[in-house]
Amino acid sequence: MMPKTVLVTGGAGYIGSHACVELLNAGYELSVLDNFSNSEPEMLTRVKQITNRSFKTFNADLRDEKALNDLFAASRIDAVIHFAALKAVGESVLHPLKYYETNVTGTINLLKAMQKADCCKIVFSSSATVYGLNNPSPYLEDYPLNAVNPYGSTKVMAERILLDLAASDPMWSIVLLRYFNPIGAHPSGLIGEKPSGIPNNIMPYITAVASGRLPELKIFGGDYQTADGTGVRDYIHVVDIAKGHLAALEYAFLHTGAEAFNLGTGKGTSVLELVHAFEKASGRSIPYKITSRRQGDLAAYYADTNKANLHLGWQAQHSLINMCKDAWRFEQLGHWL
Ligand code: NAD
Ligand code: UD1
Repeated sequence: MMPKTVLVTGGAGYIGSHACVELLNAGYELSVLDNFSNSEPEMLTRVKQITNRSFKTFNADLRDEKALNDLFAASRIDAVIHFAALKAVGESVLHPLKYYETNVTGTINLLKAMQKADCCKIVFSSSATVYGLNNPSPYLEDYPLNAVNPYGSTKVMAERILLDLAASDPMWSIVLLRYFNPIGAHPSGLIGEKPSGIPNNIMPYITAVASGRLPELKIFGGDYQTADGTGVRDYIHVVDIAKGHLAALEYAFLHTGAEAFNLGTGKGTSVLELVHAFEKASGRSIPYKITSRRQGDLAAYYADTNKANLHLGWQAQHSLINMCKDAWRFEQLGHWL
């Protein structure tokens, strides 16, 4: 049988690059679309180095309908994994239109181009942020959606658009993956998370402190109703998230309709537990100070992963220590190459 070809949008980004590695290792042919607005072409070179495979790259923007149509006209695409999006919550509050344009209009552009090309299988990057404020943990896929910032709204809207599309035409296979908190890096140390400027998310901040690029970690809040007072999240290794895409793709090839799945470990970890795990994994101490809560943060949430375990045959494998070790290896190696 001919290998299937998958278009990966945002394939040069943090999660996309790890998914490309898993897809190539599993024998898929790839085309990658990215405008490199939040990534470097070098990451794709490293994906090729890790897998010893090659693929086509399209330096194109989701907002450019013609580029999308040309891409589908030029090559046969069996399915799409759609990572490309803007993802900074704070920036989305300041520049909502930019976020709706890329994350919602960009997704519509992609779906229109797919429809024209009779390509009707898509795995979409959603987020645990769609569960909003009032749902108890563990989060279940059938909870009501309730975004609390423009970034979250773009994910809720894109999910609704995809559900409507599946309802309109039984040919569509749509998998919505709601990621919890991806951290870590590929064990090669070659690809990982490399935010520009001062990191917003916890793990890139910790690695920057560990290597001395930043003086200390500010822990946002020590008075939450949690075991040690710090915020609790469901941290998951990015390679486990990437493997979840492989499972979702296989599911999309076998099922039509639209279905949402949580990708998490099902386990909550506090900020202090994460800091201590990182210290153990790296042998470095992480100076920290407990400061006031960050506006918009929830105290604690984690995933119910039963649906993904049962229907995708997928389960997170990596421990918290592994996540920390791999994040630290990338900080020491891949970050600087
Ligand atoms: P990332 O920023 O590292 O990757 C996104 C990629 O999309 C980048 O390479 C960027 O250059 C590209 N891109 C952005 N706008 C584009 C456009 N208009 N046209 C073409 N390419 C464009 O982000 P990531 O962490 O890898 O996230 C991937 C997806 O997962 C996003 O949809 C994000 O919202 C979602 N997500 C991420 C997290 C997380 O913690 N990282 C959590 C939940 C959901
Ligand atoms: C954030 C986003 C969320 C997105 C997710 C993954 C917000 C409000 N939410 O979630 O939409 O899906 O990233 O990209 O931005 N922390 C510190 N000090 C720091 C950084 C973080 O104490 O310097 C704490 C936070 O308070 C939180 C935990 O670490 O308890 C994780 O934070 P972060 O990595 O930013 O992820 P989320 O806030 O869960």
